[in-house]
Amino acid sequence: MVQLKGWVASKSDIGSLAFIILRDGTGYIQLVGKKGVTDDNILSIMKDVSIESAIAVKGRLRKDARALNGVEVIVDSIDVIARAEQWPINKSTVKSASFLYDNRHLSIRGMRASAIIKIRSEFIKAAFEFFYARDFVFISAPSIVSAAVEGGATLFELDYFGKKVYLTQSTQFYEEAAICSLGKVFTIQPAFRAEKSKTPKHLTEFVMVEAEVAFNTQEDNIRLQEDLLTYVYNSIIEHRNKELEMLGRRLKPIEKPFPRLSYDEAREIALKHGINFEWGDDIPTEAERLISKQFDRPFFITDYPLSARSFYHMCKDEDERITLSSDLIAPEGFGEIATGGQRIHDYNTLLNRIKANNLPLESFKWYLDLRRYGMPPHAGFGIGVERSVRWICNMKHIRATSLFPRTITRVYP
Ligand code: 4AD
Ligand code: MG
Repeated sequence: MVQLKGWVASKSDIGSLAFIILRDGTGYIQLVGKKGVTDDNILSIMKDVSIESAIAVKGRLRKDARALNGVEVIVDSIDVIARAEQWPINKSTVKSASFLYDNRHLSIRGMRASAIIKIRSEFIKAAFEFFYARDFVFISAPSIVSAAVEGGATLFELDYFGKKVYLTQSTQFYEEAAICSLGKVFTIQPAFRAEKSKTPKHLTEFVMVEAEVAFNTQEDNIRLQEDLLTYVYNSIIEHRNKELEMLGRRLKPIEKPFPRLSYDEAREIALKHGINFEWGDDIPTEAERLISKQFDRPFFITDYPLSARSFYHMCKDEDERITLSSDLIAPEGFGEIATGGQRIHDYNTLLNRIKANNLPLESFKWYLDLRRYGMPPHAGFGIGVERSVRWICNMKHIRATSLFPRTITRVYP
């Protein structure tokens, strides 16, 4: 005897037989009623129950090679706990992807949507496992902040009792403060960016996994990112292969070390393919996509010019124009999923950098202050959860990886 509670994902009725595919969040199973075997009353409830109604059934498990998972349930009793109205999502109503997103509160019940969200859940679970196994301390940083981490262009402004404040773009500065107390820290929390263009890889609210480690060099930082991504990716293959298969994604475990390319090498590839940009500019999206397509596993682009990076980046001793930083790039054209680097730990160097960038000194006073009280060399990174899951699940658009995506044109539902 088994007891199950769930939703009617689909049903069919062939004369003397009634079938229901039941979904309970963990998976799907076929329920069967048969005239002569099943009570007439139960059989008629099975035939009449509407799609997406919540039901409770009792029955007997039976092996059947033709059924989903190779087993089915012969129904002995059924209760309709919450009857659903006519389900609004079907072949004739779905005219565009945007219809599905307007009805995201309902469309998340679909097989694909739930498979992606489960893969995302595994990503975050594995990230926690990874950091805890290495004695990192999980911290939560404020979402309401008084200064930009990643430049003013993507800041969301808020009125905070008459004062101008912002939604955080990254927890990095708070992590930097925390390492002098805790050594190795990580955060997993929302970040906000007022991304003004519509692209398949930008959300206005997304979740970032960020880590910061005292005494780490950029080389240590690259190794840490490699270790994290390998662990997370291989955990997804191990625990969520069914969901990957459902999405038509066949993945092999990735191996370390990841290939590395310098900014100059990346630029040379772009120039060779007719994509021109000045040395010192950020790598344009189309060049990043082109280079990313040449790889079948993640790789790093290193040695970015300072002019393409935020003010806090530490530069190489031997070349003051080049930062100790990297982008982690997903293959197959997906592009950047993480950025990391070594931070300036010297007071005067940071002060000069803040001044050179015309940043408001008052807002960065506490950040500078850290450099007055025993700040060692340190490094960290941030990896975007939705960006990474988009690549792992092979999704055209990043919105598919968020339960309720926020973009320039969408804040409903
Ligand atoms: O490259 P970003 O801007 O780097 C930082 O914020 C650093 N302060 C992180 C750190 O060192 N602690 O953002 C990091 C990652 C990107 O590589 C990308 O994966 C993701 O965050 N990201 C976005 N994901 C979705 N939508 C957006 N608008 C994103 N902006 C950044
Ligand atoms: Mg970046």
